[in-house]
Amino acid sequence: MELHVHDSHEGVSRTAAETVSDTVSENPGANLLLPTGSTPRGMYRELVRLYREGGLSLSDTTIFNLDEYLGIPRDHPESYRRYMQENLYRHVDADPARTHIPDAETPAPEEECLRYDAAIKETGGADLCVLGIGRNGHIGFNEPGSPFSSRTRVMGLAESTRRANAEGFDAGAAPEQAITVGMQTIFESRKVLLLASGPEKAEAVAAAVEGEVSPQTPASMLREHPDVTFLLDREAASALRREVA
Ligand code: F6R
Repeated sequence: MELHVHDSHEGVSRTAAETVSDTVSENPGANLLLPTGSTPRGMYRELVRLYREGGLSLSDTTIFNLDEYLGIPRDHPESYRRYMQENLYRHVDADPARTHIPDAETPAPEEECLRYDAAIKETGGADLCVLGIGRNGHIGFNEPGSPFSSRTRVMGLAESTRRANAEGFDAGAAPEQAITVGMQTIFESRKVLLLASGPEKAEAVAAAVEGEVSPQTPASMLREHPDVTFLLDREAASALRREVA
C-alpha cells in the first residue's frame, strides 16, 4: 500500500480529485465507485471546478455509489442520492443513465442488493474506488465483522456510526440500516483510494495501517489489495507509529 500525508484536508481533496480526473481522462468510459459523507465534499468541489474549467467531462463515465440508507425517502435531505445531486451531479455533465445508487425505498432490499451487485459486475468492476473511513474502521457501510467475502447487502449500522451521522435526522441518529457494497465488491476495484482527515479518524487509520489485518477493522483488509493508496491529512495520520514525510 502507499501512504501519502498532506498538510491539510484541501491537499487530500485536490489529490483525490486529480486521481479521479486522471482516471477519466485516460478512459472516459471508466467505472467509478464513490463515497459520500463529509470527507469527500472537498473532492467533489474540486471535480466541479475542474469541470467548469473545461478539464473534465463525466458524460461517458459510469458512477456507482458505495452505499445508501434504507427506509428513508429517496429525496430525504440526508439521502446519499440527494448528496450526489447536490455535491456533484447537478453541477457536471454526468449522464443520469450511468449514475447508480441503491434504492432507499425498495420494498425488496435483498433483491435490490443482488441487482446492484450484478450491475457493478456487469460493468467489469470499478476502475477506481474512492473510500472514506468510519471512526470504527468501516469502509462503505461494511461495519466491523464484515467478512472479506461479503458482497452488496443490508447492513445494520453500528450505534457509533448512527450517532456520527445523526445530523439532519429527526430521531437524533441515522437510520438503523443501509445497503452497502461488500468487501469483495470493493476488492474487485482495480485501484483503491482511501481518504481520511481530522483527529477523529486517527485511531481508525492507525488500526487500518498498523494493526492486525482483520474483519474487526474492515479498512485493514485493504492492505491485501494490490493497488491501494491512503491519502491522509496530518491529523488523521497523527496516531501512526511510523514516520510520515
Ligand atoms: C459513505 C461511506 C462511509 C463514510 C464514512 C466516513 O458513503 O462510504 O464509509 O466514508 O462513514 O464518513 P465521513 O466522511 O462523514 O466522516
